[in-house]
Amino acid sequence: MSYDRSKYREMQEVTHEDYLNFRKTHSYVVIENVKVALPERHVIKKFAPKDFKLETTTVWSFPERGDWATHRGNYRGNWSPYIPRNLILRYTKKGELVLDQMVGSGTTAVECKLLQRRCIAVDINPDAVMVTRNRLDFSYAPIDEEYEEPEIRTYVGDARNLNLIPSESVDLIATHPPYAGIIAYSAKRVPGDLSSLKLEDYIEEMRKVAEECYRVLKPGKHCAVLIGDTRKHKHYVSIATRVLQAFLDAGFVLREEVIKLQWKMKTTRERWRGSYDFLLIAHEHLYIFRKLAEGEKASRYKASARW
Ligand SMILES: C[S@@+](CC[C@H](N)C(=O)[O-])C[C@H]1O[C@@H](n2cnc3c(N)ncnc32)[C@H](O)[C@@H]1O
Repeated sequence: MSYDRSKYREMQEVTHEDYLNFRKTHSYVVIENVKVALPERHVIKKFAPKDFKLETTTVWSFPERGDWATHRGNYRGNWSPYIPRNLILRYTKKGELVLDQMVGSGTTAVECKLLQRRCIAVDINPDAVMVTRNRLDFSYAPIDEEYEEPEIRTYVGDARNLNLIPSESVDLIATHPPYAGIIAYSAKRVPGDLSSLKLEDYIEEMRKVAEECYRVLKPGKHCAVLIGDTRKHKHYVSIATRVLQAFLDAGFVLREEVIKLQWKMKTTRERWRGSYDFLLIAHEHLYIFRKLAEGEKASRYKASARW
């Protein structure tokens, strides 16, 4: 490990009881100036997407982002539940352990609950963890009689210090970090929030996140990271390429690169209102990395490794 992990806040578990206590005095939280309700009871119309099929190409597009179970689009920058669903179904089996250490509103954790994967969900923002707990607060009455509720644990914590997660214990990482300073997730700036950093500092910190991912993942398993780019002085800033480098430098090899089309570019549209002489960014990158299994020959994957 190339940095001192203990400099960053330690993981602190938030239980269902903690959530219920919080809920007694809070019916909503405010995240980046947006009020996110914590309803006492969720109205659930369906527990799964209709006619779901696994993605089979490197371009993914979900014009209807997905609103089954407790998924809602009202946490700024949350990812479509189709993304973790695809990752979980493709790369894990029932009962295996999934980590999302930047879980936001809990999309990955809810998918784990529905798909019977154990989950560790972490976020630096305690309010986000309360949103996650709220979204997990439903009982699932599936058609599948063999359904067993998986263990899902939630923590306030920093992706750079997953101190309660033993090395080589996780079967899949599926996570969606902030894109440098594009969207600040906490107006009151929770210490350690990477969304408040300038690009160079952000990349430095993402290198630590990548190292911590590498440490906790079992050999042979996958780590998926969704990341977007930005523009400065009308020129393209490829945050994704820099993050790709950080993960390859940590030791991963690149298994897949998926282009994820963006449908609701609210910030971009509001900002430019039709008068611009450059192309609007309408995609994100989903990198799916793999940690080589023990005994696997690294030279075989040289062309997909760090350069
Ligand atoms: C793009 S959002 C994730 C959204 C999530 N995929 C969802 O569907 O709701 C990024 C999240 O990273 C969190 N975050 C920022 N810095 C962090 C850090 N150092 N450790 C853990 N979480 C962090 C933010 O609080 C925010 O919730």
